[in-house]
Amino acid sequence: MVNPVRIAFIGAGIMGRHHLAVAERNPEIEIAGVAEFSPETREKLAARGIATFADHREMLAAVKPEGVVISTPNAYHAPAAIDCIEAGAVPLIEKPVADTLEAGLKLRAALAGTDLPALVGHHRRHNPIIAAAAAHVRGGGLGRVLALNGMWLRRKPDEYFKEAWKMNPALGGGTLLINAIHDFDSLRAICGEIESVQAMTSSASRGFAVEDTAAIIMRFESGALGTFTISDNVVAPWCWEMTSQEDPRFAWQPEDCYVICGTEGSLAVPTLETWTNTPNGGRDATFIRRKLYHVAAESMELQMAHFVRVIRREEAPLVTVDSALGTLAATLAVPVSAQRGTAVTIAELLA
Ligand SMILES: NC(=O)c1ccc[n+]([C@@H]2O[C@H](COP(=O)([O-])OP(=O)(O)OC[C@H]3O[C@@H](n4cnc5c(N)ncnc54)[C@H](O)[C@@H]3O)[C@@H](O)[C@H]2O)c1
Repeated sequence: MVNPVRIAFIGAGIMGRHHLAVAERNPEIEIAGVAEFSPETREKLAARGIATFADHREMLAAVKPEGVVISTPNAYHAPAAIDCIEAGAVPLIEKPVADTLEAGLKLRAALAGTDLPALVGHHRRHNPIIAAAAAHVRGGGLGRVLALNGMWLRRKPDEYFKEAWKMNPALGGGTLLINAIHDFDSLRAICGEIESVQAMTSSASRGFAVEDTAAIIMRFESGALGTFTISDNVVAPWCWEMTSQEDPRFAWQPEDCYVICGTEGSLAVPTLETWTNTPNGGRDATFIRRKLYHVAAESMELQMAHFVRVIRREEAPLVTVDSALGTLAATLAVPVSAQRGTAVTIAELLA
């Protein structure tokens, strides 16, 4: 039998503990240790027999993990990942890959000098719903995509903001970097690269330094045009978390959060309903409404299993640092565009 891979964790807040629970259920993983600032969390983990550390560098030196899951606040992603790379461990970096493009490019440079892979935690790419939508659209199932519409609309509870970094733009807080970035990554997976973005943002309803609402127009390299609306302070169900059944912590609403429309048909996600028409069907033609086939599976589990194979060099990372930088640039283009009042190209930000 192959030895389990030894994986350590940096950050054991909401997401870090979720990753840890997923890893503990995977028989191919041995938990090497957890670095976490909070003494209470360390105490709870130590009581379960897990080696804990206050300093992640100390942990890397002490337990020499093969892989490390980084679930710190956004601003620490790139520095922690560079520390892992220097220690010879393969990182799984929570999204966003970094809080700034400068930090992300520094991470890419640190990786370039090594033969280590790195995986970025855009876990929805592992979800069979996104995979089925991407295969259908990229396979020409909608003809040429011309227009799409995406939404992330829900109300975050007040206790969500007890972690101050979630309201702090300097620490990567705000609903764009925390939520929209997932959708931008999924839309890139389905429809291809985003070429430019134009947006307006607002922080008026919560009054935090970070935005709570944004309206975004995007142009894809294919020529398709899209709109995306986001707010974390509205009572509404139209977001991936509430519609996809991906995470049981969110009460399921049988709705969609993206509609993608092409010259030969349309697709709604996550229901995966498609609408096509009789050839050359005009206004009165009958719609044919179908559902794409997919087998539901838990994307965080799939991501962790993939991470094991990436560490063993059996698979290339599904989401590389390079790819995640494209998603980060498209997301960061939103506040830049809102401030300038003009469209912003992704190429300009990545130059
Ligand atoms: N993939 C997803 O769907 C998803 C969902 C939520 C959050 N996230 C991402 O996960 C990350 C963590 O979010 P969260 O909600 O768990 O935040 P959180 O504030 O609950 O947890 C972060 C934890 O990291 C610890 N920490 C920070 N720096 C550390 C360091 N250098 N060493 C050890 N511990 C350190 C903090 O003490 C805290 O417990 C964020 O980047 C967020 O964007 C991803």
